[in-house]
Amino acid sequence: MTMQHTSVAAVQPRTELAETLPAAFQAVETLLVDAVDSEVAVLRDASRHIIAAGGKRFRPRLTLLAYAAVGGEDPNHAVPVAAAVELVHTASVVHDDINDHGVVRRGRPSVNALFGRTFALLTGDYLFTKVYELMAPYGDLNILLAEGTSALVEGETLQAAAVKEGNFTREVYYRVIALKTAALFKSAGAMGAKLAGGTTKQIDALANFGFNIGLAFQIVDDILDLIGDKEQLGKTAGLDLEQGRGFATAYAQEGAEPSLDDKVNAIKRKAMEGDALNQARTQAHMLVQQAINELEILPPSAAKDELANLAHMIVDRSF
Ligand code: IPE
Ligand code: IPE
Ligand code: MG
Ligand code: MG
Repeated sequence: MTMQHTSVAAVQPRTELAETLPAAFQAVETLLVDAVDSEVAVLRDASRHIIAAGGKRFRPRLTLLAYAAVGGEDPNHAVPVAAAVELVHTASVVHDDINDHGVVRRGRPSVNALFGRTFALLTGDYLFTKVYELMAPYGDLNILLAEGTSALVEGETLQAAAVKEGNFTREVYYRVIALKTAALFKSAGAMGAKLAGGTTKQIDALANFGFNIGLAFQIVDDILDLIGDKEQLGKTAGLDLEQGRGFATAYAQEGAEPSLDDKVNAIKRKAMEGDALNQARTQAHMLVQQAINELEILPPSAAKDELANLAHMIVDRSF
């Protein structure tokens, strides 16, 4: 650790973080539920259905930890921002399940499966609008979240266009996952650091940390889509190959047979027997290591340790 970083705001002692952080996480949960209190029953019910189903909450966790790791003193100040990131993500999975025909999400029927396409579309829209309200007091942070959100839409669109055009190559795959997933993780990290009054270097480090774990997260997600346990995952798996995307498609589609069923099987066989799975795993581990290296400029703290744990959790998870 170099001396130049000792001038930042005092970092919370470990015991203090252990006391304040669980309360902040709980406050995020409460705020998520309160934020979607529409008088239109179906919007309220569908929103609460997907929010109450839980989920890993990696993105709000990243925001709160980034805030604490650069010396933010009142985690409550970061709670609406953390909730807003989670709402962007939740809206995106509600819409994603319409597009991907996902019928199970977070261990429950997806919103489209339970309420139908029309209400799922509107519920996703509603969740996005609530982000404006939560973010209203946060000035410049809005730009950071807008960047991650528009990237997400661009990534989803680029993916659909590449699948349609039959050019879902490795290069496209990495562009897609950077946009659809890593960009929001980047926003989550950068916003926490900026809100805590971090230096430009610290904000960049947390942005890069988020971006790299976001890439690793999506690679692992695609591995799990291919080989994960459906029950454990709590969502419809096996869709990537069927729908012509995911890393296996990008790594192994060359030389596949023409008919769809044959093609799916051929790609899967190639991915399982060949080196694609290992390559993807190696890539994910490298990205996590790069992310952890970004943390070096931060002073030691419990939040910094927790960020490293979060990075490891991303690649070591089985759901
Ligand atoms: C699922 O994200 C969508 C992707 C970007 C792969 P998560 O796996 O974080 O979803 P939840 O919130 O835990 O359900
Ligand atoms: C999800 O991508 C990405 C976003 C929702 C932006 P996927 O379609 O691969 O994710 P899952 O597997 O359905 O969660
Ligand atoms: Mg999708
Ligand atoms: Mg999907």
